Formats: sequence, structure tokens, C-alpha cells
Amino acid sequence: MRLLRLLAIVCLLVMSVALVHSQQQISTMPLPASFRPGSGQFVIDQSFSVSLTGYKDKRVERGTQRFLQQLSRQTGMPLVNKSAESSRAGLTIRTDHGSKQVQELGEDESYDLQVTSSGAQLSAPSPLGVLHGLQTFLQLVKTSSTGFAVPEVTIQDRPRFAWRGLMIDVARHFIPLDVLKRNLDGMAAVKMNVFHWHLSENQGFRIESKKLPKLHQLGSDGLYYTQDEVRELIAYARDRGIRVIPEFDMPGHSTSWFVGYPELASAAGPYQIERKWGVFDPAMDPTQERTYKFLDQFIGEMAALFPDQYFHIGGDEVNGKQWDANPKIQEFMRSHGMKSNQDLQAYFNKRVQAIVSKHKKTMIGWDEILNPDLRKTITIQSWRGQQSLAQAAKLGYRGLLSHGYYIDLMWPAWQHYAVDPMADAAASLSPEEKQRILGGEACMWSEYVSPENIDSRIWPRSAAIAERLWSPQNVQDVNSMYQRLKIVSRHLDWLGLTHNSSYWPMLRRIAGTEDISALRTLADVVEPVKDYTREETAPSVPTSATPLNRLVDAARPESQTARQFAALVNAFISQQSNSDEIRAEIRALLTRWRDNANKFQPATVSSFLLKEVVPVSNELSALGTAGLSALDYLENGETRPETWEAEQLALVERAKKPQAQVLLMVAPAVQALIEASAATEPSSSK
Ligand code: ACM
Repeated sequence: MRLLRLLAIVCLLVMSVALVHSQQQISTMPLPASFRPGSGQFVIDQSFSVSLTGYKDKRVERGTQRFLQQLSRQTGMPLVNKSAESSRAGLTIRTDHGSKQVQELGEDESYDLQVTSSGAQLSAPSPLGVLHGLQTFLQLVKTSSTGFAVPEVTIQDRPRFAWRGLMIDVARHFIPLDVLKRNLDGMAAVKMNVFHWHLSENQGFRIESKKLPKLHQLGSDGLYYTQDEVRELIAYARDRGIRVIPEFDMPGHSTSWFVGYPELASAAGPYQIERKWGVFDPAMDPTQERTYKFLDQFIGEMAALFPDQYFHIGGDEVNGKQWDANPKIQEFMRSHGMKSNQDLQAYFNKRVQAIVSKHKKTMIGWDEILNPDLRKTITIQSWRGQQSLAQAAKLGYRGLLSHGYYIDLMWPAWQHYAVDPMADAAASLSPEEKQRILGGEACMWSEYVSPENIDSRIWPRSAAIAERLWSPQNVQDVNSMYQRLKIVSRHLDWLGLTHNSSYWPMLRRIAGTEDISALRTLADVVEPVKDYTREETAPSVPTSATPLNRLVDAARPESQTARQFAALVNAFISQQSNSDEIRAEIRALLTRWRDNANKFQPATVSSFLLKEVVPVSNELSALGTAGLSALDYLENGETRPETWEAEQLALVERAKKPQAQVLLMVAPAVQALIEASAATEPSSSK
């Protein structure tokens, strides 16, 4: 019996070691559809070369050159592409056939990658699969004891969804082309394939129009992309297997159009570029023929500039106030039997759809455009809930999910990761209806981002969304996701993304000095407030002129330190008997936090940007003290004063409240320590 039990334990141990082993063997994000790790590794030295076979394709050739440059960057080793015989090459690539002239939704993106100790083979039906496979290879490269190496593995990979997008709002804050390019590099690294370019808003019209030049001349403060730049970005994206879809939001979110063309609006002008955030009254006049003439000209020009099949017309958040207040519009609605502003917007959408179709594009819009009167060719992007995605699919429309993927809301990665386009309301759809769900998009709305901090709001969390959209639905292990997210985040550094690197200069600016050790200790455990709380707690009305130089702008959306601390506390509370090391780590962190406020005080004198942070620093110190006394009680079993627990918990509650628009993310774990210590009988403790 005892032997049997021993055998079972040994079996379990072996299995768990094997599991850990296999997880360690593959660090990619997204996780491939199927993979089998081997035991050896392929060493990459300076003799490494690539050989291209099969269909000759310029995109694959350029992709291979970039791959070698990237590998060289990752390893610090000069690598030149000596055109090697395929039998001698470290990596042999085979492409079966070419891809579409203009990248299309649903093209084959699959690839096979086999790495053995003597070399690697990558094969794919189309160049798109090759590009993805090269990214997988780059993610697999590790520093090993014998050199840089890729672990042996056999991968067969393909995406779960055909549409894996990232939307960037370049209107509320203008985002320069080079920043977009590096983010396209990030997208390619995690196999995202649609860049949704939100180009117009109340706060800015960001693209040159040659036909209607007052749009960018008067609507952009001079911050717009020329058409040459747009073509450059589209080519850059195409080289990386990414489609580019422009969005021109209408009939609302359109004040910047009216600065140059007030006659488009539903109320008399003049108009100015909007500086505040929110939903505003100006909207296009759907009752005037000249509106559609204008849109025909504009959409025609843009349809020729953007090669992709899809054309986004926005359609969200029309408050209808200008329509309500305009007697001519009211009369139009009466004479056409329209009962509501929704009816009027549906009429507008129908007219716009005809124009979009005339220019040979497929219309896509936010879920407000959903109306059974519209042709089934349109696509719905669901942002207000998963319900609208399912509803669209039931009505015969194709759809994308963005509800749950709003990365401006500062959610932790696990929360986005838990959102699945096929779950929730979509779970009960028929197989045919499910076919209409194309995928999803992460959305980077830009009220609070600048070129300096935008990468840190997009990465690494978008990699978790990318995995949700690429990997099989049963890839759900949050711990594995976080392990790999850390690795992919470092990998993205090599691509020139600044999500990690921008932290330091931003902290030095706030500190006003080189010594940021105390500020860093604090910054590492705070996160910006969540959802729309930043608006609600703003010290003054935020605008596009508001500086983005505070702790809330530098702090990462998700504190790794806080997550690790919570894991330590959880492990400690659940298995106290065997946790000396864990206890020591917890104590070290709490001590550092307790002592940080003293280090912080002298620094505050040197910078106005630190003043608002002092109370947060004091709360952190108080949390450190409270956590340490909880730990003492847990360890020593001393009798606690009667009021101790209530006092500590009141302190924790204060610390949980946002201050300076940041949240102290270690408060819940300190609370758990206090509650655990209060639950322990003093006399029975060791
Ligand atoms: C949106 O967030 N208004 C699409």
C-alpha cells in the first residue's frame, strides 16, 4: 500500500516536471495551435544563414532580411545573409504560393515550424504564414549555457480568428508615423493582422485631403499625415502581414470636419476644434443632399488611397441634440415617417453605405449602426457589450468584438484575456451564426496618451488579447499567460517599443533629479485609476492641452510588483508551515514600503510634480507598517490590542481610494495579511 502511494507520488512528480518542462520549452505569445517540444536545442552562432525555397516572393525576401536584422539585434551578433544551400542553412524557408495583391480577410496564415538540433524548417502555404513563423522563431531564441539557441520543437500553427486588430486613435492626441510603425512591429510580433486607424474625431482631422483640403488645413492644428505618409505606412504594414483600415467617424464625433466645412453640420457655425473629451452635440446633417455629395467626394478619395476592402464609418455616440434643435431636420423626419434619431441615423447609414459600395468598399461601423434595414454586407464592431455582437450575427451581419478589449481602461491583462468573442451571448449562437464572428480588436483611445507613453498602454497587455484571438479557445492558463507575457514584453524591447524604456525618463522628470529610487518604489506598486474614473476624478477639466507628465501617466497599467506580492501573500497564507523564504520576501517588501516615505520627503522639495504623490507615498508607508505588524502577530502569536484589526482595516480602506488618480495596488494583499492574522488564535500560533 505504502509502495503504491510512493509510486503514485513519483508518477505525479514526473508528470508535473514534464508539464513544467513543456511549458518552459515554449515561451511564445500567442501560443501556437499545436506544438510538441523536443529535448535538444539548435545553437545559433554567426554561421547562421537562411535559405529561401519554393515560391519567390518579395515580401518574404524583405521579411527574411528584417528577421536577420532582428536576430542580430537580439543576439548582438553581426549576421549577414550568406545565401546558403538549403542543405546547409540554419533555417530553410519554403513558401508554396503567393498571396493576394491586397491582403484579404481570411487568407491562409498557417505555417509549420520544425526545429531540431541541426537546424530549422519553416514552411507555409503563403507569405503570410512565413512572416508569422519567422516571428515565432525570433520569440523562441534564448540565451543558453552554450550560446544563443532555439529549443527543439515541432509547431503547427494557424489562427483561430481571421481578424486580430489593434485600433489606435490618432485624433485626440496626434501619434507620429514613427510611433505607429514601431507599434506595427509589435503587432506583427504577436501576429495581429489589422491596424484600424481612427483618423478623425471632434479633436482633430488627421489626414490630408487633396479634394477637400480645409479638412486637414483647418481641422488638425497642422498635425496630420500626408497622403505619401499614409501610403508609406500601408506599405510598411503590408510587409508585416497587416491590413490597414481607416475610420472616419460620422455623423457624430466630427466637430473637426466642421471647422473648414460648417455647412456639413446640423447647426450653424462657426466651429472650432474641440479640446475637451466626451460626447458633443455637433453632427452631420443627414437631411441635406450636399452632405452626401461631400461624403461621396471624400470617401471616393480615401477609398482610392486605402487599398483594403473594409472602410470604417464610425457611427458611435450621436447624442442627437443638434437634430432635435433644427426645425428643418424635424420637418424632414416627420415627412419621412421617422420616429426617432435612431431612424434618422439609419437613413444616414443607408445613404453612406450606398456611397461606400459605389467606391467598392465594405462598410464597417460601431454597434450603433446595427439596423435590420442595412444590407447584410456590413460589419459591426461591438463596443457596448457582447450582446450586440451576438445580435448582429443572428441578424446575418458579420461582427468583431472590442467590448472587453478597451486597453485605455487600464485593466490588468487577465481581465482582457478572459474575454472571448465566442463566449457570453455568442456562446449560444448556431454554427452558421458563429461563422460571422470574425475576431476582435484592442482599442487604444488616446485621451491620455502621448507618443511618450502610448506604447506602455498598448504593450505588453495587447499580447494577451492577441493570444486570445490567435490561439485555440482552450488556451486559458492565466499563470502561463503571465509567465510568457513577461518574456514577450522583453522581446518587444528589441523591436524598439518603448513601453519599458519610457518609464525611466518619465520618472526622472517627475522626480526632477537623477535619484529616482524612492519614486520608483512607489511607482512600481501603483496603477492609473480604472475605467472612466480618470475623467470623474480629474482635478480640473482635462483637455488636449493638459500635460501628461504625472505619476498617473508614467505608472504602468498593471503593477507586476503588486501581482507578485499578492501571489506571495496568497502562498504564505495558504501554506504557512513551509514558507520561510516567502515570509522573508514579504517582510523585505513591506519593510521597503514602510521606510520609503522617509526617503520620499526630501525629494518632494525638488519637484512640483511630486507634491500630489506625497499622500500616496504616506499611505504606502502605512500599509507597510500595518503589513509588518500583521506578519509579526502571525509569526509570534502575540496578543493583539482589541482595536487593532478594525484600525488596520480602516487604514487599508483609505489606501484603496484613488489619490492623484492612482491606485495603491498592494492594499488588497496587505488586507489579506491583516485578516489572516486576525483569524489566527494568538495562543495556537508558533
Ligand atoms: C466608442 O468607444 N465610442 C466606439
